[in-house]
Amino acid sequence: MPTKKTKNVRTAKGRSTSSTKWLKRQINDPYVAKAQADGYRSRAAYKLIEMNEKLDLLHSGMSVIDLGAAPGGWSQIAANHGCKVIALDLLEMDPLPGVSFIRIDFSDDEAPGVLLDALGGSGVDLVMSDMAPNTTGHKKTDHLRIIALVEMAYDFAVQILNSGGSFLAKVRQGGTENELLAQMKRDFKTVKHIKPPSSRQESAETYVIAQGFRRRESLE
Ligand SMILES: C[S@@+](CC[C@H](N)C(=O)[O-])C[C@H]1O[C@@H](n2cnc3c(N)ncnc32)[C@H](O)[C@@H]1O
Repeated sequence: MPTKKTKNVRTAKGRSTSSTKWLKRQINDPYVAKAQADGYRSRAAYKLIEMNEKLDLLHSGMSVIDLGAAPGGWSQIAANHGCKVIALDLLEMDPLPGVSFIRIDFSDDEAPGVLLDALGGSGVDLVMSDMAPNTTGHKKTDHLRIIALVEMAYDFAVQILNSGGSFLAKVRQGGTENELLAQMKRDFKTVKHIKPPSSRQESAETYVIAQGFRRRESLE
């Protein structure tokens, strides 16, 4: 990535130290500038680009579910590869060509049904989740929240993935919880963790990628 001189941010009255820190990081982040120049909705787009380069995830004609999609960087990348995307977020997202958007909280009991309706009975080739719950600052609570979202995404994915399909999800460093990881290894040919170069080193996030879905007999 290009390097540039670090710009400082003046602390405004009423702006907390953490938001000043966030702003300074945004202004000085080369991926943020690159995303603007490349016309991507978020710097997160590069994470999917980099993971796709390593894992060969996206192909034209694939059906993809993007959970926690706003503002739309991952959906853009998938659609640019010719995938048909259904995107979901609890926040609003501006329309994108090739992407159907549903605004709903994924932890809402109705969310899986709404997605299934949108699929109209067809299976999907990739379920990807970049969902990140708002952090409370309480480490244990934050950890449990992200685990709960990953588990929900996984339970949903195994119901709708086509044979050979993939599941990609953001997890916390330290990786996926043991029980879920063991289940993934039974359900998929390969399971690994990956931290793309554009994921900030200081960030606790990493991704789990499971490829080669073997449909469970009870689901056939
Ligand atoms: C890191 S952002 C996703 C960025 C996106 N991948 C991109 O490339 O632009 C995480 C998103 O997860 C969403 N999110 C968090 N919890 C959610 C939930 N329970 N249901 C739906 N979306 C959720 C947030 O609203 C946020 O937009």
